[in-house]
Amino acid sequence: MIKLSDRLQKIADLIEPGESIADIGTDHGFLPIALWERGKSPHVILSDINTGPLEKARDNINKYSPENLFDLRIGSGLETLMPAEVDTVVIAGMGGQLIAEILGEDKNKSKSYNKLILQPRNAQDKLRLWLFENGFAIRDEFLVREGKYLCEIILAVPDGQIVEIKPEAIDLEISPLLFQKKDPLLVEFIENKIRIEKKVYDEIKAGATKEKADKLKKSEERIELLQELRKRSG
Ligand SMILES: C[S@@+](CC[C@H](N)C(=O)[O-])C[C@H]1O[C@@H](n2cnc3c(N)ncnc32)[C@H](O)[C@@H]1O
Repeated sequence: MIKLSDRLQKIADLIEPGESIADIGTDHGFLPIALWERGKSPHVILSDINTGPLEKARDNINKYSPENLFDLRIGSGLETLMPAEVDTVVIAGMGGQLIAEILGEDKNKSKSYNKLILQPRNAQDKLRLWLFENGFAIRDEFLVREGKYLCEIILAVPDGQIVEIKPEAIDLEISPLLFQKKDPLLVEFIENKIRIEKKVYDEIKAGATKEKADKLKKSEERIELLQELRKRSG
């Protein structure tokens, strides 16, 4: 049986038994293969924009699960799916901006799926902003360790409500849901951000950039805000 990383295992845990899924940007295909092997999903679609990853997925299918018929599709984003064709769409391991673009390509289609499990590698704040501004609600959030990284997993559903939020709001970067749930990795997550921002501060200080005073002030304010959040996180 295929062994999933903690990140992919958490995504698999968010899929209820009996849910059909499409894994967009499947690459190695590990998640769909695992869901099939464990009898969790009656229908799994593996989709990718590139042939190389789909060949990799095919090799893994032959290795782990040759007896099963898998549904492999090639194309960008959700264009390989019919509206409402599956219960849940997974888009993991891509940038937040690209995930937002994929969902924005055809918003009605994106809203035809009951659940979206999104795992942006970066620009998480941009993806959250897009979701709030386009009628999706974030139902849950999770932090998962993968190697030296803490990965963010977002569970979103279409709910039709448009939420206005300032693009610079810290809530877009650190989900309030993580505080509510006292996520065990939250302290480390915020401390990582403080460490990065302190480095940025030192670099601005050492450099001779224009508007140095402004930039230092902004960086200092951000460090203070993060330190305040760190205190609230446990
Ligand atoms: C880093 S891999 C992520 C693999 C897997 N989802 C995971 O989380 O481990 C990103 C995959 O997304 C695919 N990809 C990039 N842009 C895409 C798009 N617009 N539509 C579908 N797949 C895309 C790439 O070909 C690549 O296989």
